[in-house]
Amino acid sequence: MKGIILAGGAGTRLYPLTLVTSKQLLPVYDKPMIYYPLSTLMLAGIRDILIISTPEDTQRFRNLLGDGSQFGIRLLYETQPSPDGLAQAFIIGEEFIGNDSCAMILGDNIFYGNGFGRMLQNARKNAEEKNRSSVFAYYVADPERFGIVDFDEKGRALHLEEKPAEPKSHYAVTGLYFYPPGISSRAHLVTPSYRGELEITSINQMYLADSLLDVQILGRGFAWLDTGTMDTLLDASEFVRMIEQRQSIMISAPEEIAYKNKWITKDKLLKSAEKYGKSPYGAHLRAVAEGKVRY
Ligand code: DAU
Repeated sequence: MKGIILAGGAGTRLYPLTLVTSKQLLPVYDKPMIYYPLSTLMLAGIRDILIISTPEDTQRFRNLLGDGSQFGIRLLYETQPSPDGLAQAFIIGEEFIGNDSCAMILGDNIFYGNGFGRMLQNARKNAEEKNRSSVFAYYVADPERFGIVDFDEKGRALHLEEKPAEPKSHYAVTGLYFYPPGISSRAHLVTPSYRGELEITSINQMYLADSLLDVQILGRGFAWLDTGTMDTLLDASEFVRMIEQRQSIMISAPEEIAYKNKWITKDKLLKSAEKYGKSPYGAHLRAVAEGKVRY
């Protein structure tokens, strides 16, 4: 399975923070935001990943993450000339995806919760072995800000709507999507919405209409963190700090995931730790290599 991280957009709601850098490179406590979605794809077992960003910012991501070999994965980069919609990622990435299945995560979406790794593996198998797509739903207080899904009494998805004025439910569709082979052909069928964008919701509606869409609910206690405003960005940092300090763990460290997956050797992990110098992140990687971190 291939993976895409969509990390473009202008980030105007975060000006002046994002005047000269990308939103997805801003810090979320102790690491750049993109480390979180990258970790999510790696937890799903995906090792072939395309990062799509703006013409100005793509090189910054390349400077930070390189070819991915330090994580035991392959990273490629493409640009999106203007933010014409999430579904465009599958057109930009058409050659990269080829005949494979593909997951996409938005570069500003942070997920954290017990059992998430298993859910990701299920979604992956669903796409690879059963030709089905998967999305994840999360109960929110302000559903009009998101893509929304509602369910019948048996819990089957009924409708999907993008930012409805009168939402039929409180379940937001999060920015993480798993699709079987053929996703790019579907993306070509999408026409621009009333706001002029190629909506991911239109793609999901096609799979739903064909009874090929599974919706997994992220339950109570699960964290799907928003990083879209000054306050939610700070909240995300505080959440990560609180869990990390309380449990002496590091949330979303790609090198740690790579090491646990046996994608990199101990030597490589230590080399990465050196690169991070005296930072807490570097110290954590050293502790992982020395077997001092419990799971
Ligand atoms: O976060 C989940 C929500 O993401 C879903 O519930 C919605 O269905 C989905 O449309 C999307 O809604 P947003 O309002 O969050 O989309 P936004 O336009 O803010 O874009 C999300 C991120 O993707 C943002 O960091 C910018 C980036 N982006 C966006 C567009 C439209 C791109 O990189 N390229 C684009 O063309």
